[in-house]
Amino acid sequence: MAARQIINSEVKTLEQAMSARFGWQTGAAWRDGLLDAIKAKAERLKLDEAAYCRLAISSPGELEVLADMVSNSETRFFRQSAQFEALSKSVIPELIGKRANERRLDLWSAACSTGEEPYSLAIALCESLPASENWRVGLLATDLRGSAIISASRGRYPASVIGALAPHLREKYFTKADANGREELYDVESAVRGKVAFQRANIYAPQFWKNMKRRFDLVMCNNVLIYFHALAIKQTVERIANVLEPGGLLIVMENEAAYINHPALKIDSSLPGYFFRKV
Ligand SMILES: C[S@@+](CC[C@H](N)C(=O)[O-])C[C@H]1O[C@@H](n2cnc3c(N)ncnc32)[C@H](O)[C@@H]1O
Repeated sequence: MAARQIINSEVKTLEQAMSARFGWQTGAAWRDGLLDAIKAKAERLKLDEAAYCRLAISSPGELEVLADMVSNSETRFFRQSAQFEALSKSVIPELIGKRANERRLDLWSAACSTGEEPYSLAIALCESLPASENWRVGLLATDLRGSAIISASRGRYPASVIGALAPHLREKYFTKADANGREELYDVESAVRGKVAFQRANIYAPQFWKNMKRRFDLVMCNNVLIYFHALAIKQTVERIANVLEPGGLLIVMENEAAYINHPALKIDSSLPGYFFRKV
């Protein structure tokens, strides 16, 4: 398509502004989505596309609207089975032993999209924590996309989304809510929801890290470093290393493992999946 081939200087500058703000690599991967978003927003505001780009470049709010429109938010419950198997069989039992005195766990899903990842982690915790003991679980779940955070906080999913869960987990942790005309909807059970606190956040923003006072036993950072440019990867890995407790774990996807080059983070080869331990 001819229009697709014209990457004019306004679009390039806008792409660079988004890259600088959100840590994303520039390039073809999200350009089509960006071009569609520019077209839609320019039409809505009755501006020509170049004028809209100039407006967006100088407006942090507009950059965030565009990020919400173009960001890839693909996710699933228990997306990486090896990770969750290791969590259930080894990592969570180890954490329970380590924190037996304070009975408190601090975990973070750094790019949680619409909530499937942190809720999967919360379900794994519910399955492992001794029912007779009163544990406090602080599971922070952040994402850049405000619309994803709103949807995640609601904790309501269509039958097709929870369909891949093991039947016993589906029955135990979801209740039928409603039908949206075509499909049944299910709510995440309140004990699971109560463990997760959602927050809209840009994990490439220095201000976010300035305000971050918590320390974590476990950080899941799946499928986000893959979109980042080299500086954003380096800084994010460094910042995560700084907020991990000694012995704490960073989890990433297989195709992101090569990005974890930090003297304090060592891969734990006893675990399947890609777990990096703070030494
Ligand atoms: C492909 S999804 C991954 C979701 C989940 N972690 C998983 O693996 O299933 C990538 C998510 O990263 C989020 N994201 C991208 N850049 C971000 C940033 N700078 N700060 C926080 N979240 C970001 C996107 O909004 C999107 O929801």
